[in-house]
Amino acid sequence: MASPFGAEERMQTTISEKNLRRLLPDRAAPPLVFERLDSTNAELARLCASGASEGAAVFARSQTAGRGRLGRTFESPEGGLYLSVLWRPSESDPLFPITALAAVAVRRALLHICGVDTQIKWRNDLLLGGKKLCGILAELKTDARGLCVLLGIGVNVNTRAFCEDLQPRATSVFLHTGRAVDETRLAAEILRELDAARRVLSENPKPYLAEYADACITVGKRVTVLRAETARSALALGIDTELGGALRIRYDDGSEELLISGEATLRAENGEYF
Ligand code: BTN
Repeated sequence: MASPFGAEERMQTTISEKNLRRLLPDRAAPPLVFERLDSTNAELARLCASGASEGAAVFARSQTAGRGRLGRTFESPEGGLYLSVLWRPSESDPLFPITALAAVAVRRALLHICGVDTQIKWRNDLLLGGKKLCGILAELKTDARGLCVLLGIGVNVNTRAFCEDLQPRATSVFLHTGRAVDETRLAAEILRELDAARRVLSENPKPYLAEYADACITVGKRVTVLRAETARSALALGIDTELGGALRIRYDDGSEELLISGEATLRAENGEYF
């Protein structure tokens, strides 16, 4: 999609590698910014294969083959912030909390830089005004050095329009507030918050998981739990902070289950995108 901004306005708000590095002078892994990539997760996987270290970060101003959860594509027009960060968890680090920690980190950065109070849709979407603002995709790999997590995040920041299909369900900070955002400042804050979340993963994720639970609007909602061939009605009871942000649900027959991550898709029963 062509840039919806005037050239001058776009220059003032678009992410710049030079300025981003200036805002993060002490970061061990200086972030890379590309004009366009197939997918920042794919690029980070290539860097990982050539030995990239913990914290390596890749941004793109647009993606031609952005990847979403469950093999879906993630539409990535100019105006969004698309990034992937490499985490190399140690053997003692828990893996389940990773997407929840990332959601809290991005939520904090959006509040601090853009003044927007997002809500979390279990498991990995941030919503603003009931529409999707951000999606998170954590891909797990192993290489010669051990486990790698490719933490991919797409935020609709200055996006002015979405394709017809997404329009009813997606929003951007610009569309919600009417204000264009300095993408470089937001990118720097997201990286700072993610770096802090990475430390928390090794130390004590519980306070972050409690913050995740507070911001999660799925809790208390009636949902349909979709698996390959089945659809079952349930009530979302709460977030399990022991199990890294798993969702406890109660089916209508009274049985309960803990949903850990992508094994099922949830749909709100009242039709809203919750
Ligand atoms: C989802 O909502 O299903 C997750 C979307 C994750 C999209 C981000 S954009 C940056 C990174 N690169 C990708 O190809 N995907 C993630």
